[in-house]
Amino acid sequence: MSVQRIQIKRDTHLLVLTGAGVSAESGIRTFRDSGGLWEEHAVEAVASPGGFARDPVLVWRFYSERRRQAKESAPNPGHHALARIEEGLGSRFLLVTQNVDGLHRRAGNQRITEIHGSLFETRCTRCDREPFADESLHLTPPLPECDLCARKGQKALLRPNIVWFGEMLDPANMLRIDRFMAEAEGHPFVFLAVGTSGAVYPAAGLVVEARARGAQTWLVNAEAPDNARFFEIFIKGPSGRVLPDLIEVEAP
Ligand code: OAD
Repeated sequence: MSVQRIQIKRDTHLLVLTGAGVSAESGIRTFRDSGGLWEEHAVEAVASPGGFARDPVLVWRFYSERRRQAKESAPNPGHHALARIEEGLGSRFLLVTQNVDGLHRRAGNQRITEIHGSLFETRCTRCDREPFADESLHLTPPLPECDLCARKGQKALLRPNIVWFGEMLDPANMLRIDRFMAEAEGHPFVFLAVGTSGAVYPAAGLVVEARARGAQTWLVNAEAPDNARFFEIFIKGPSGRVLPDLIEVEAP
């Protein structure tokens, strides 16, 4: 394994992007390891607005199973390492995750933007109420309906608060990332991507933006992903083994 380490100075800003690979060692399968299928379902069937319109019972069963699986999983040494790093850096740290499993939060990270949503939140398909915390399982009908819409005499299904294919990311999350990069510019700035295939934008493009703002760019991944060429340093290996020793904090 590589002995390369990220040097953190007193004013270094660290932006971390994680993907499904970080949770692989917690027993949660990644997306692109099964030929367009996700836990035996075509991705469009369970992760698109069209799929939900066609078969909401299947989609709710699918995400209920994902909720249950995530609850039964535990953060691994990779998650714990990122939580310790945040503890050391405070507001000079931001974690952008594409994962919806909640494991980063359970490991202790607080400065997180979950850009693809969260398995443990639900929202309405009709009204603009805020997404709310929800761990309930809907493995069979009846499906959950919005009580706020019902009070107005309208019938509307609830849905998991996941960003599906073809949907927009929450602009507030993108703004937070942009603000962090603006603050980091002019300081030592490190961008670290972990466990992500670089296939889904805009997350896959963050490395290019960070470089443009002067970041040193690091990648930790089990194999070279699609966008590996954009990174200056690539460490090939499982995040649970690499992350615990990756960061070196310079003595003040
Ligand atoms: P992918 O499944 O596309 O990629 C996971 C990456 O992690 C692959 O490059 C693997 O080689 C790597 N990997 C596997 N095990 C690893 C380990 N133990 N340590 C380090 N790396 C490992 O997952 P994402 O890039 O997260 O979107 O996928 C991006 C988005 O596509 C997901 O958020 C999801 C999906 O559609 C939504 O659900 C909206």
